[in-house]
Amino acid sequence: MTQYKNYVNGEWKLSENEIKIYAPANGEELGSVPAMSREEVDYAYESAKKALPAWRALSYVERAAYLHKVADILERDQEKIGTILAKEVSKGIKAAISEVVRTADLIRYAAEEGVRLSGEVLEGGSFEAASKKKIAVVRREPVGLVLAIAPFNYPVNLSGSKIAPALIGGNVVAFKPPTQGSISGLLLAEAFAEAGLPAGVFNTITGKGSEIGDYLNEHKAVDFINFTGSTPIGERIGKMAGMRPIMLELGGKDAAIVLEDADLAKTAKDIVGGALSYSGQRCTAIKRVLVLESVADELAGLIKAEVEKLTVGDPFDNADITPVIDSGSADYIEGLVRDAQEKGATELTPFKREGNLLWPTLFDHVTTDMRVAWEEPFGPVLPIIRVKSVEEAIEIANKSEFGLQSAVFTQDFPKAFAIAEKLEVGTVHINNKTQRGTDNFPFLGVKGSGAGTQGIRYSIEAMTRVKSVVFDIQ
Ligand code: NAP
Ligand code: G3H
Repeated sequence: MTQYKNYVNGEWKLSENEIKIYAPANGEELGSVPAMSREEVDYAYESAKKALPAWRALSYVERAAYLHKVADILERDQEKIGTILAKEVSKGIKAAISEVVRTADLIRYAAEEGVRLSGEVLEGGSFEAASKKKIAVVRREPVGLVLAIAPFNYPVNLSGSKIAPALIGGNVVAFKPPTQGSISGLLLAEAFAEAGLPAGVFNTITGKGSEIGDYLNEHKAVDFINFTGSTPIGERIGKMAGMRPIMLELGGKDAAIVLEDADLAKTAKDIVGGALSYSGQRCTAIKRVLVLESVADELAGLIKAEVEKLTVGDPFDNADITPVIDSGSADYIEGLVRDAQEKGATELTPFKREGNLLWPTLFDHVTTDMRVAWEEPFGPVLPIIRVKSVEEAIEIANKSEFGLQSAVFTQDFPKAFAIAEKLEVGTVHINNKTQRGTDNFPFLGVKGSGAGTQGIRYSIEAMTRVKSVVFDIQ
């Protein structure tokens, strides 16, 4: 069985303790990763800090060259990494390989975006006349050591989307992959190692978040925490960060709002793809449908027909619905289903469970006293809530503790824009499913869905800070 190692200060290292990783779909033992000790974390952080001056002194084009090499390696190794990823997080093999390729593309784009970064010169004279002689040269500099923490559902892509913008901006990185997803994360690290980055610039830290996480966050060496994951852990990190800048991309309860004039057949397809791909384990999954009563029967029928087409089974058969990440998650999802059943929701496609494999469950006539109207299942459950008016849809959409994205389905673009303006979310999609891409677009959550803005250029800007040098010209 492979003992995977951490990459610290340019060397691959085991730790005294290890964590065994099993495939959620069939229990296959995939290998082990180190459970790093606090002393080993200190060493990784110290090595990163030592590497910072030389790395930040490189030009953008020199740093970009390393990133292009990483992207080439990921493209070359897409099948190898995708295969482990598919096993480790129970993702369809095609989607797993696409995740690796998407990451290579993103890393290349980050390299190119870095090369295009420039500062600016500001002239005085806009306030008191004497300030006319003042000039400010405004440049960007790295924040220092970035702690990048990724979730299980995109262990390669949501890692690359933090690491590449951090590195091109001149930062050094400590990368903590999700435990279930850490082998995939360490294979990603192999690409950075092979690309020949100077020792200490990029380091990995494996270990359970519940054991080592707080130590990683609170450590004085860390200058920026870039986290994607659940809202409770994000809030915890926010408190620990104190005055240090952070980026938090957290949970969601994205609503699809469907008006009377929507193309219902296309809408149903978009909703099902958006809600149930990767078994609903996406922050941007559509997690409730708010439909006007007059078209609710027709839409519910069309969605049901689409759900019934989904295949359920093994990631290596590219089934649409695969086992969810662990039994805790499956139990939680079942709890939401049971609550909706008890409170009288109409079950359009029946709930069925075999271990962690859950058949997609579509509920109609969901009411706001049901947990599934508000909580994030992170699994294959989709509630339909019927509303009397657009205003009621907006009110229910905004009542959520989350504010990641929404979708509005209508042929009336001005109306869609008016609704988009009222929705308390980071992004509104018109006539399409909620989704993060494309990766150069800004991606953010408001309220319980996060703080800060991702998206390649936005991420580079977030992880670099402005320094202004001011002088008088006469
Ligand atoms: P999670 O349980 O919050 O874990 C996320 C990461 O945080 C993992 O690497 C985890 O490590 C680590 N962690 C746990 N406790 C920590 C602590 N005290 N300090 C520092 N790190 C700690 O989330 P998940 O189950 O992996 O992912 C699902 C959640 O993420 C959902 O709520 C989903 O909506 C959200 N998500 C949001 C976005 C977005 O962009 N908005 C994207 C993807 C997912 P271990 O694995 O070792 O516990
Ligand atoms: O799970 C959260 C991801 O950021 C969603 O990305 O919309 O490309 O699947 P995606």
